Amino acid sequence: MVEQKTPARVGAGVPTLGRRLSRRKPVEKLVAETESGHGLHRTMGFWQLSMIGIGATLGTGIFVVLGEAVPIAGPAVILSFVLAGVTALFSALAYAEMAGMIPASGSAYSYSYATMGEFMAWVCGWCLMLTYGVSVAAVGVGWGQYIDELLQLTTGLSMPAALLAGPLEGGLINLPAAIVVLLSMFALLVGVRESTRANAVMVVVKVAVLVMFVAIAVTAVQDGNFAPFMPMGMAGVSAAGATLFFSYIGFDSASTASEEAKNPQRDLPRAIMFSMIVVTAIYCLVAFSAVGAINWTGFVEGRTSLAGILTVVTGTPIWAVIFAAGAVLALASVVLVVLYSQTRILYAMSRDGLIPKAFSKVDAKGTPRANTVITSVLIALLAALVPLGPLADATAIGTLFAFALVNVAVLVLRRNRPDLERAFRMPGAPVTPVLGVLTCAYLMFSMSLSVWIAFGVWLALGLAVYFGYSMRRSELEREGAVEVVA
Ligand code: ALA
Repeated sequence: MVEQKTPARVGAGVPTLGRRLSRRKPVEKLVAETESGHGLHRTMGFWQLSMIGIGATLGTGIFVVLGEAVPIAGPAVILSFVLAGVTALFSALAYAEMAGMIPASGSAYSYSYATMGEFMAWVCGWCLMLTYGVSVAAVGVGWGQYIDELLQLTTGLSMPAALLAGPLEGGLINLPAAIVVLLSMFALLVGVRESTRANAVMVVVKVAVLVMFVAIAVTAVQDGNFAPFMPMGMAGVSAAGATLFFSYIGFDSASTASEEAKNPQRDLPRAIMFSMIVVTAIYCLVAFSAVGAINWTGFVEGRTSLAGILTVVTGTPIWAVIFAAGAVLALASVVLVVLYSQTRILYAMSRDGLIPKAFSKVDAKGTPRANTVITSVLIALLAALVPLGPLADATAIGTLFAFALVNVAVLVLRRNRPDLERAFRMPGAPVTPVLGVLTCAYLMFSMSLSVWIAFGVWLALGLAVYFGYSMRRSELEREGAVEVVA
């Protein structure tokens, strides 16, 4: 529990622009909101939270993006996974500390509100829309690819090209991508308890098919496929690392379930770390066996899929069919959980008045219905129209920025609020959170100019919404309260 004493003064009156932008939501207020009858129901324990973390993480990154990263780094793609994993690890530790201290659905957005003030919280929440909303669309696109692969493997037929890609890729609409988002919406509307059960089954299936992949592909590993190990040098390793960072996004999803966890302070830090360990081990094993079994030059432009590798290695399509069927379920679980996370972050932002109140209205079962429907329909449209590459890149850069902010939040609260009880302490702080910020910045700067331009446009849009709407509607504005750290 958080102690109730606070070194903050709460001032009143009409604040200046600077004070409006930097007004903070006291940790005690955040925690009190999560404890009072907020409408969401507390049903999840350690395993459910871990299943959310793993469910949201293992997906398109390993099933699809790995194949696109190999041509960039060669066999050293294994190092790219390690690089992305180290970056994610620092942030996972930072998330674990913050989630154990501030168990609010808003996750990084709420941590920023408590530490850096409203403006940075808004920027963080806006970036989290890339992390969650846009990544759901990206995963939906990956799902469509596996549906098509499964269809080809089982019937020899392919889906009409016009229904597998949006207009930017010469198609009409990516129908499967939109369908999986809408199916997940219906699952979430049925209820979060039912959705987490379905997710747990899908997580077991996806871990099983990835273990099956490793067990088969490892039998075909040849030393020669690892030479040259780093054909594109360190630049290739970091560029692929930036791309693959997408595969680690999701461990943080458990933190968005804080207000539906039975004992968030105890279980969230453990669930976040457990998810990270499981997915990192799986990624390294899958990457090693994939590039060991097939020479990296065979991975041209993502045309070598993991399912395809199984056919090459075994000489029969049966394993590929099982794998593709598992992948279809795997990616559906990512869509389901990440969509869930997006609705919970919007819920927290709405409760704070930064987005319309419709997003924080819940029904008797504790489901934010309007939020779920509006969010899902918008994401389904995105998935139907935009290709995977730009979606995944936008997701990665937005997430890196939000993760860097969580590391900063750890530093700020360690300095400003050493009195707060921490269920988990990030080991090695303040060095580790600083490294967390630096590794995130390193990967961000490995991204291409076009990704930065897209990110800049997204941020500019966010600023327009904040100054045009959110700043005036903020609950803190209404209360005329400004937290000033003494
Ligand atoms: N990490 C998630 C995935 O790879 C977003 O699909």
